[in-house]
Amino acid sequence: MNISSAEFVTSAADVSTCPKVFFPEYAFIGRSNVGKSSLINFLTNRKELARTSSKPGKTLLINYFLINKSWHMVDLPGYGFAKIPDKEKFRVKKMINDYVLERKFLMCLFILVDIRIEPQEIDIDFMKSAAENEIPFVIVFTKCDKLIKKQLAQNVADYESRMLKFWETMPHYFITSANSKIGREEILDYIEVTNTHFRDLK
Ligand code: GTP
Ligand code: MG
Repeated sequence: MNISSAEFVTSAADVSTCPKVFFPEYAFIGRSNVGKSSLINFLTNRKELARTSSKPGKTLLINYFLINKSWHMVDLPGYGFAKIPDKEKFRVKKMINDYVLERKFLMCLFILVDIRIEPQEIDIDFMKSAAENEIPFVIVFTKCDKLIKKQLAQNVADYESRMLKFWETMPHYFITSANSKIGREEILDYIEVTNTHFRDLK
């Protein structure tokens, strides 16, 4: 898919203030600092559409971007190790849960996982809860530029065997790097195909 336009729409502090227009949407979620905002910039080919930072906890609101005037990308705050006060952590957690459960036009959650580190309970629990609530999701392995090819293949295989302990099949996944520009076409093609199912939801 060609991205001809990508515009910031709004930052919502909770699900009740998210846009009310009928566009399919795709949200990017994962631990703080995994590379959600960087992936959005990479996919849209815009340097600073979503704000990134080397410090975890940069994104704290639900950020909407309108793509090709016909669908939304949503940058969510990270769960996990963000250094923010407990009260704010609680607010962010509730905001993410409400968002995931209540957004009717959420076509797919992209759950980002840093491929350099071993499977984390917080990610696995998040996937389990998405599956229990029948929220479609895929896994996006990020920062793949940081590993040599052999190690990358090994880590993906390890992740898969961890998942197969309790899933019948490995969820669909993408190998990406915002830095080395890997995985863009695959994700955009996936979204293009998924967008064609939007009519069925309306
Ligand atoms: P929060 O909004 O804080 O939850 O973080 P985030 O998941 O949006 O991460 P963000 O995109 O801000 O990136 C965090 C850090 O990871 C930044 O220093 C990025 O430069 C770096 N980063 C993101 N993607 C990649 C990648 O593909 N490769 C490498 N090497 N670094 C990356
Ligand atoms: Mg971010």
